[in-house]
Amino acid sequence: MLKAATQTVAAVLEARDLWKSFGATTVLQGVSLTLRPGQVLALMGVNGAGKSTLMNILCGAARPDRGVLEIGGRPASLRSPADAHRAGLAMVHQELQLAPELSIAENIFLGRPPTKGLGLVDRSTMNAAAAEHLARLGVSRAPTERVAGLSVAERQLVEIASALATEARVLILDEPTAALSATEAGTLLALIRTLRSQGVAFIFTSHRLDEVFAVATDVMVLRDGRVVRDAPAADLSRADLIRDMVGRGVVEPGGSGTAPRADTRAVRLELAGVTRRGAGLRRSVDGVGVRLHEGEVLGLAGLMGAGRTELLEVVAGVAAEGWTGRMRLGGHDYRPRTPRDAIAAGVAYVTEDRKATGLVLGQSVAANICLASLDRLSRAGWLSGEAAFADDMMRRLSVRAAGPGQPVGELSGGNQQKVVMAKWLARRPDVLLLDEPTRGVDVGAKAAFYELLAQLSATGVSTLLASSDWPELMALSDRILVLRDGRPTALFGRGEATAETLLDYASAGGPVQPDFQRSEAA
Ligand SMILES: Nc1ncnc2c1ncn2[C@@H]1O[C@H](COP(=O)(O)OP(=O)(O)OP(=O)(O)O)[C@@H](O)[C@H]1O
Ligand SMILES: [Mg+2]
Repeated sequence: MLKAATQTVAAVLEARDLWKSFGATTVLQGVSLTLRPGQVLALMGVNGAGKSTLMNILCGAARPDRGVLEIGGRPASLRSPADAHRAGLAMVHQELQLAPELSIAENIFLGRPPTKGLGLVDRSTMNAAAAEHLARLGVSRAPTERVAGLSVAERQLVEIASALATEARVLILDEPTAALSATEAGTLLALIRTLRSQGVAFIFTSHRLDEVFAVATDVMVLRDGRVVRDAPAADLSRADLIRDMVGRGVVEPGGSGTAPRADTRAVRLELAGVTRRGAGLRRSVDGVGVRLHEGEVLGLAGLMGAGRTELLEVVAGVAAEGWTGRMRLGGHDYRPRTPRDAIAAGVAYVTEDRKATGLVLGQSVAANICLASLDRLSRAGWLSGEAAFADDMMRRLSVRAAGPGQPVGELSGGNQQKVVMAKWLARRPDVLLLDEPTRGVDVGAKAAFYELLAQLSATGVSTLLASSDWPELMALSDRILVLRDGRPTALFGRGEATAETLLDYASAGGPVQPDFQRSEAA
């Protein structure tokens, strides 16, 4: 039915036989696509399949080696994203590109602010328009706030607002929901449906397959830079889609259910009354108490601003002096002042923002993987150690790169994330802090990561896991602590929580478990 309505309309965007190579690697091999008004095309493929490369070409951020683009029926030669803007195309990139020192509104209207006489920027119009765009996406921030103070999820939404503000007829969104929690992602998907009904066309990609079936009208699958499927979404099952992407079937992970009951194991890390100041008088973490046992995976659930990252930062030594309360690690008082203190105490922290804190982009994959384990490697004999070590981790997490010597900055987004995980998993820490560890990671590599995490748990590694992917959180966690506005509201054992209950306890105005002990939540 959808199809019949859209098929007769002229294409807004057409690409024919696009090719692209980087050095010896051919990334796109003869890709063609047609996009009509109101279509939502999900571009699918495993990490490194060529999705971002294709999207970058479609929006003028990269040039194909060969091939033709047509916009609105006319041949288009896009030399820059500005050319694409003029032609009615806007893109949200996989890696965040905001200017942190500017305000939200200035970012949304970067390069094309509303003006009044004499070319002066019309600030009040700009701020009012920005506020409107933010409200549509459910962001409760003032347009005058600086981007530097925003969480990764909020930055992502500002980028999306910025694309929407162009009033483009074609929107290209590269993993727009990767950093968002279920509620924020739901708001965005609803907005896509509304705009679609007004004739806006979308190309988007996501590694959360549910979203594809919730919003896509059509699906195109890339494997090794070739189109292996181009079909209406209704014609594909989830299993078909995975097989097309990976080239074989993948068993999606469920709960292992094998972990012994957490309370029988020794306590590794204990938090009592941990509180941290946020902006102004607000507390970003407010009286969190919890015990993490040996080999336990404790999930942290919450919506944007719940304080999950802020809490992990306290344990990771990033918050320095800015917190109160007490922590004990392995039976001793634990008060890390720097990330170095935390690492020395056996705590590893996989951050949410891989570009800012996770990776040295100009350095090789091998160097990045070994970065956190240098002390141990040098004991074992540095050079030979490094290569074998990196090689093993790359294989286990199926990092797709030209070789261990390739600079990390040249890897696809999902493969960069695998390198971040490899770096910390390789260290075999006592306590592992994971913040959105599988953001942008494809379904096959996720399964490998889950397995690796299960192995680590079996050897006694304790994990605090913050993930906005709630099915993932429920599958991996022995227990789940729910945070709301920095405060714990509930603690669930394995199998006790559902997505609905988590959302209920995470949402403003939601319930708090009656027997919940704030200082002794274990
Ligand atoms: N500047 C570059 N130099 C060398 N290789 C590159 C460069 N940019 C991309 N590549 C390679 O092109 C391939 C495709 O990358 P691309 O970013 O398009 O993948 P993707 O499908 O978007 O993956 P992901 O799901 O991880 O985002 C990868 O193997 C990547 O390493
Ligand atoms: Mg990509």
